Order: sequence, then structure tokens, then C-alpha cells
Amino acid sequence: MLAILGGSGLSRLPGLEGMRSKSVRTAYGEPSASLTLGRIGGREIVFLARHGDAHSIPPHQVNYRANIQALKDAGAKRIAAVATVGGIRRDFGPGVLVVPDQIIDYTWGRASTFYEGAGAKVTHIDFTAPYAAALRKDILAAAKACGEAIADGGCYGATQGPRLETAAEIARMERDGADLVGMTGMPEAALAREAGLEYAAINVVANHAAGKGDSAHAISLAAIEAVVEQAMQRVRRILEKLAAA
Ligand code: HPA
Repeated sequence: MLAILGGSGLSRLPGLEGMRSKSVRTAYGEPSASLTLGRIGGREIVFLARHGDAHSIPPHQVNYRANIQALKDAGAKRIAAVATVGGIRRDFGPGVLVVPDQIIDYTWGRASTFYEGAGAKVTHIDFTAPYAAALRKDILAAAKACGEAIADGGCYGATQGPRLETAAEIARMERDGADLVGMTGMPEAALAREAGLEYAAINVVANHAAGKGDSAHAISLAAIEAVVEQAMQRVRRILEKLAAA
């Protein structure tokens, strides 16, 4: 089963057939919201709003372990994660959709592994390619099938938030090789790998990152909302194709 993890601008997925809500608990606590189950094109999917139903959980306080565990317990085998980002690379301007292929993790202090605590064995996962190749391909194919432009590849830099970055931090991230900046991609991707779930992301560029393009002097938060609302319509179409494929 496909799981969709919705971020800012995608906290509900209306239009599911036979839609029902299920509140769950995991060994790691409660996920961000109740799970929404339903069918798209006859295929069962599960949806979870990463920041909660009321968009009240900031990136550094999301219970990533409970979210991944809840989706796994519900029977999910693959997770399409939707998240808004800032664009660092010049051609990743507002409204651009990207399926990233690499990650640099700048977050700190988050519960970021299932392999800790009483009785847990020290375990290292391979994370050379952090996103699942097959699911990335399926997302790209779904976008193509519905005529939506989406960029194939980019390095996602995960910052702690909830504040946006300084221009110097973005300049450093660019030197590091990051093309996109967001606050929720880690530890989410690593936990999915630990849990044995296929995981890939659709990043929605909401704004030029701090110090770049029209964010040269400041990031206009008012402009972000309109861009995201528009772009999420396109993301919904891609997700519908992906789910029904
Ligand atoms: N930085 C970090 N996260 C973000 C941004 C940004 O500029 N825009 C949307 N999410």
C-alpha cells in the first residue's frame, strides 16, 4: 500500500473513495494526526498530515518515529513524502517541483533512529542513496503521465527550523552541494529506510532560499502561501496518478 505524508499546504487529501479516519498509537507515541484511509482509482492508500490536522506541530517537534511506525503498522510499503522547500539552485524557483536524490542532514536533537533504547542492538543502515530508486521513478512517471513538469534530482539540505536560514547559512549549504532546503526531510527518510519502507519525496519550491533571487534581502512569507496553494493542485494530480498506477 502507498502512504502519502503531507506537509505544509497538504494537510488533507479530499476525494478519497470510502474515506475513513483511524486514530492509532505506536510504541513511539502518537503520530501527528489520525490516519486517513481510502481508495484512489480503486487502490487503497493511507494519508498522514505531518504537521497535524491543524498544522500545529513545528518541524523539530514532529514525532517522526511514530509517524513512520504508524504508516508501517497500517500496512504501508512505500511512502511518498510531500514537503515545501526553499530553492537554493538558480533554476529551482518558486512553484518548481523536484524529486530529490540526495540529502545532507543539518538537524540536531531529533529522535532519529529506531535502533536505540533498552534491548536494541547497534545497527547501521546503508543510506548511500537515501531515496528509493523505484518509487522515485514511479513519481517521475506519474508526473509525466499527467503532463506536470518535475525536476529529476537535487540535493535536499535538512535544517532544524522552525526559523528560516540566514543568507550565510544558505551560502554554506550551497558550497556543501545542497540544491534545496527544508526542515522535515530528516530523520523521516532515514527512519523509513530503517523500517524497511520505500521512501521518496516530492519537494515543492515555495520560495528562493535566504539571500537568493527575490529573497536577496528577505523571504516574503505572504508570497509563499499563494505559490504553495497553486503548486499543491499539481502535486495532488501527480499523487492521484501515482496511487492509481
Ligand atoms: N527554508 C527551509 N524550509 C523551507 C523554506 C526555506 O526557505 N521554504 C519552505 N520550507
